[in-house]
Amino acid sequence: MTAPKPVVAIDGPAGSGKSTVARMVAEALGLPALDTGAMYRALTWAVLDARIDPADAPAVIGVAHALDLDVGPPVRVAGRDVNDAIRTAEVSAAVSVVAAVPEVRARLVAAQREWIVAHGGGVVEGRDIGTVVAPDAVLKIYLVASEEERARRRQRQDDATEASGDLDATQEAIRRRDRIDSTRAASPLAAADDAVVLDTTGLSVDGVVAEVLARYKAAVEAARS
Ligand code: C5P
Repeated sequence: MTAPKPVVAIDGPAGSGKSTVARMVAEALGLPALDTGAMYRALTWAVLDARIDPADAPAVIGVAHALDLDVGPPVRVAGRDVNDAIRTAEVSAAVSVVAAVPEVRARLVAAQREWIVAHGGGVVEGRDIGTVVAPDAVLKIYLVASEEERARRRQRQDDATEASGDLDATQEAIRRRDRIDSTRAASPLAAADDAVVLDTTGLSVDGVVAEVLARYKAAVEAARS
């Protein structure tokens, strides 16, 4: 039997650099990566595609239970490639409401844990990975950055789902999403007590990745001894 791969949890608010950092850390460590935000986005896409009101929790729960989701890449719903479709402004505006429904979270958290077991570990990125999905992760990183910097990053991204061209509007959209994500009753956005909190404001991506890799090395060594 091969030894199980470790789990690296990377959490943080919108625009904190999670996706880029998670992808690069996974590549450097040769581990598979899971973007759990894409799963909530795919469900939200399916809800909107079915012309269901994202605030209609019972209907949303119905979609969640019937969801035929392949986390990819590319992300597929019922075989259809929705990789780009899940990054639209409409999905970004609705996703936090959908993600606040406890039954939705239970369904997707179960799928995320299944992914971890099937892959034997990996770099998992989201909002509640260190607190709920993988509390035993060998390393928990919680990325933060100033609101302004996060809005600026969103505007620079090609798939900038909240970038309307106006920095203030982008900042407001991110603020709204973070507010819903961090105040919901079911597994809100939060740093685990044992997470390493990294403020990435003004740091280069390479600098953040190097810091995470150094922490990883130390965490694996500590776990061995
Ligand atoms: O990471 P991303 O910005 O794509 O996440 C989209 C949304 O999905 C978040 O704003 C949040 O509402 C939800 N989400 C979550 N728990 C996760 C990952 C994402 O609630 N683990």
